[in-house]
Amino acid sequence: MKRAVVGWESTSPIPDRSLNRYLNARNGRLFYEDLDLAALFEEKGRSLKLGREIHSPLEIVYLPMIRRQIHNMRDIFSQAIEDVGYAGQFRYAYASKANAAEEVIRTTLKAGAQHEISSLMDIEILRVMQERGILDPQTMILCNGFKPPNSSYADKIVQFKREHDPVIPVIEDIPELKPLIESRLHFEVGLRQKSYGLHRDLSEMDSANSRFGMNVDDIFKAAEIAQSSPNIHLKLYHAMVGSQIVDIDNFVDRLRPPIEIFAQLRQKYPELSVFDFGGGVPVAMTLDFECDYLAFAVNLLSTIKEICDKYRVQVPDVIGEFGRYTVTEHGAHLFKIISVKDNTSKYPWYIIDGSIMSSFPDSWALGEHFTVLPLNHLDRPFHRVQLGGLTCDSDDIYPPHKSKSPLFLPVDAEDLYIGFFGIGAYQEMLGGAGGSKHCVIPEADELIIERDQDGKYQFDLIAGQGPRAVLGNLGYRPRGKQR
Ligand SMILES: Cc1ncc(COP(=O)(O)O)c(C=O)c1O
Repeated sequence: MKRAVVGWESTSPIPDRSLNRYLNARNGRLFYEDLDLAALFEEKGRSLKLGREIHSPLEIVYLPMIRRQIHNMRDIFSQAIEDVGYAGQFRYAYASKANAAEEVIRTTLKAGAQHEISSLMDIEILRVMQERGILDPQTMILCNGFKPPNSSYADKIVQFKREHDPVIPVIEDIPELKPLIESRLHFEVGLRQKSYGLHRDLSEMDSANSRFGMNVDDIFKAAEIAQSSPNIHLKLYHAMVGSQIVDIDNFVDRLRPPIEIFAQLRQKYPELSVFDFGGGVPVAMTLDFECDYLAFAVNLLSTIKEICDKYRVQVPDVIGEFGRYTVTEHGAHLFKIISVKDNTSKYPWYIIDGSIMSSFPDSWALGEHFTVLPLNHLDRPFHRVQLGGLTCDSDDIYPPHKSKSPLFLPVDAEDLYIGFFGIGAYQEMLGGAGGSKHCVIPEADELIIERDQDGKYQFDLIAGQGPRAVLGNLGYRPRGKQR
């Protein structure tokens, strides 16, 4: 397997150049587009007068990137629809599980993305957005996740349907239809196929060991039950086949068997008009990433067309639920190197002022790679190092244990800042927002960055955790207020 390029891989300084679509080296400093990141901790940061001083560690949230991702993918599919002569439409949905922060949901909804949810609390978030006038009444809400009869999630879906019509429950299992039927509300529903991975034929798909979705038999039974219930209308077929699938031919090959089932179903139920390929669209977390999204869209639409022609059914509209793709690159986490320790380990340790494992759980849990670059001293010599977090945990390191990827940082570590990039999806949700974390290390401040129509920056600094919050979470109350 190819090894991930997680940063600069040389002892020479980084010359002025672009490192990826949004990170640029200039005069020994790193810019996120044209924002000098180290300057946030220097005089420039102080001059922003954000009510409190900006200091590390600091989480960066760059909202224009989210909009850009959504617009780019829509443009790509418009182009593919034209290239293929595809008779259906494309809809972009944001998969909220990737990052449910207020500023993210606000941004995706305002950009006109449809919305995919997976649990009860997602509906509470949508209620807030509705009250604030941000949820467009036409926005489709695709309700994935387990919602058996009498569960709070099933009840909430039925309630929310009364307030927001385009709520589309995606059925995971046949009993989930019952509360919808009993509600007597007019529901359009989706059916979720069990289809995670690459399957040569339908029988392989059926024997896959996955708790998501229904096997082929149950999909047909669910369709029959839906069809015979006067208030239920089949709308969508859902098949998610993996995550971060970089090989686009393999991605579409994985989708082939579900597309066959879709076409067979559509022969029987022509109102089944949407094919939802779920998530899985890859995005850059490291510097070696390449993906031809247009080739993916063209290949996907051509395959759907070919299979629908074979079954003589109309091609469907297509929805993708983009989690990682939407929010990976808008997030970065900046740290200061507070100590360099050479204890004759393989490489010197650069210790950061935070925790790698609680900020980016996938790095230790899955050995996932993210991009790490210095914010200053780029014009000085580099050497190979390893990063260590502040916890006492042997896994709180980067690159992760089994990684083959070298990490180079400037030899001069005086006032050195570094950034982890490509961390906006899942990391905060897995590590938890708020709460108290490993070795009681508090959560960083967060800087939300917007740009107005003239490109002028707007900053909003959100305080991280102070001692009171951390201790309060653990049950330490001020004197007289003990439990
Ligand atoms: C049903 C469903 N849709 C969409 C997604 C988002 O996937 P990704 O982040 O790969 O885009 C997920 C992720 O687990 C999912 O379970």
